[in-house]
Amino acid sequence: MCGIVGYLGDSNAKDIVLEGLHKLEYRGYDSAGISLYNLEAGVFDMFKDKGRVDHLASLLQDVHGSTVGIGHTRWATHGKVNRANAHPHLSSSKRFIVVHNGVIENYRMLKRDFLSHVRLESETDTEVIVHLIEMFAQTMEAPEAIHETLKLLEGSYALLVLDQQRPNRLIAAKNKSPLLIGRSDRGYIVASDLMALGKHSADYAPLEDYTMTVIERDKLAIYNRDYIEATLAFEPMDFDEDSAERGPYPHFMLKEIMEQPLVVRKILSHYFDEETLVINEAIVHDLRESDRIHILAAGTSMHAGLIGKHLFKILTGKPVEVHIASEFAYNPPALSDKPAFLMISQSGETADLRACMSHIREVNQPVVTLTNVRTSTLAREADHKMELLAGPEIAVASTKAYTAQLVVLTLLAYAVGKQRFNIKQELSTLAHAMETYLAKYERIDTLAKTVLTKPNAFYIGRGLDYAVALEAALKLKEISYIHAEGFAAGELKHGTIALIEENTPVFGIISDKRIALNTRSNLDEVKSRGARTVIIALESLSEEEDDIVLPDVHPLLVPVMTVLPTQLIAYYAALHRGCDIDKPRNLAKSVTVE
Ligand code: M6R
Repeated sequence: MCGIVGYLGDSNAKDIVLEGLHKLEYRGYDSAGISLYNLEAGVFDMFKDKGRVDHLASLLQDVHGSTVGIGHTRWATHGKVNRANAHPHLSSSKRFIVVHNGVIENYRMLKRDFLSHVRLESETDTEVIVHLIEMFAQTMEAPEAIHETLKLLEGSYALLVLDQQRPNRLIAAKNKSPLLIGRSDRGYIVASDLMALGKHSADYAPLEDYTMTVIERDKLAIYNRDYIEATLAFEPMDFDEDSAERGPYPHFMLKEIMEQPLVVRKILSHYFDEETLVINEAIVHDLRESDRIHILAAGTSMHAGLIGKHLFKILTGKPVEVHIASEFAYNPPALSDKPAFLMISQSGETADLRACMSHIREVNQPVVTLTNVRTSTLAREADHKMELLAGPEIAVASTKAYTAQLVVLTLLAYAVGKQRFNIKQELSTLAHAMETYLAKYERIDTLAKTVLTKPNAFYIGRGLDYAVALEAALKLKEISYIHAEGFAAGELKHGTIALIEENTPVFGIISDKRIALNTRSNLDEVKSRGARTVIIALESLSEEEDDIVLPDVHPLLVPVMTVLPTQLIAYYAALHRGCDIDKPRNLAKSVTVE
């Protein structure tokens, strides 16, 4: 989704803003733009176009030093992908320059009621903001004009505003869309993602909703919703730059797949003190006291939630429901007396989950967020948070965050339940088994090439294997664009089997002894109708002809193991089809619109 970077200070704003935009590329975008102060001409120049940040950089070859600038990557929501709709946007007199993340829901009404005399240059919801600022600025100072404008906006925004009349000032404001400010002795940097603050900040602070920040070289003023000065709590920057680099891997996705054993070990060392599992007691208490746990998530995180449900059932005996966030937000189920809510979100910014939060807050029951981004909105809005510790996940397709979700859910369910086994040992064994399997990862390359020759594919399994089948199919679709479905193995014959043709790929996941033979029968059914079957089985359940044999691990940890080959299959399928693996079409890393 859209990304924002702004800089004011003694370093070269062009370099810092461009570098920040490059860091935000992983979030997904279709256009990019920048506005920089031209020291010689004494004005802000603007450059924007559809296409990549590299293309934008090529437009800036003759632009030199600057001390103030703002940049944006746009993921189209209102209006086509074209230059006019790309940010920044200008006010009519060109005095004000704005970049915006989020959606202004009442922009049509604002246009009709306040701006009927103004000729808009774009189809975006954003453009109304800059014209409103200019309108109010006829009679008041710019910060006040921005504050008056913010009062009219409904929806979400992270905004940066420049004013030609005060080039040494940068104004930022936010509501519901993330915005962070970093500072160092060289200046201030504002961005929608920690990744872009990186090495240019000694410390940083997330901005609160409804706040506006006026940044000058020697002064930082924060205003709350009532335009009263407020404070910001800065914390030291602890972002590890190297963890966001691709290293020797051709793609971030492959790097992140290979990092998974390390992530399991990192989670172990964080959540264990010697042999003792340490989970916030308040979380354990709230979940134990609840009469039902509702897991809310989207996409891959929702697939992790399905496995979480199983883990909680086995380890705690508690009833658990898993909800697609966008459904729960507007069609919530009837709730019991003492529910508790678990939100699972890699980014911690997913708008569908934020919409759920408003509803949950009305029932005043505990919310725990499991997230990979400690400073994220959902982490801050929840009563409790648990970190996934997967490190920055740059590829749009989630891999290591998913396995981190499974491991953290296992630890949480274990802590809430009363069953005891050596979970630390089992997780260490798992990390080792994952490493052993991943050491031979290139073997999947040929399999993906020879099997995935058709436009459709299926993954089937039962129980936990079914939940992994859903995730496996999603991964294949999102990066290789092969239409894939995950199915409960026994359900295929109730209709979908009609789609099986000669050589339709059907992957079967087999990890549960009780139902292994049933899944094998289902695979035989499709094979006899022409399907090309591929069997992924645990060693103890494997048969001679099986295609992928995986080391046995503790039964509750099996999904962390079985998902590995499916991630690699998706990766190689996409590679052979020449797809943009880390930035698949139409997708965004953090989905901040509903
Ligand atoms: O950041 P979140 O975990 O809340 O994101 C949820 C989904 O958008 C995300 O998992 C999506 O499905 C990924 N592209 C999956 O690879």
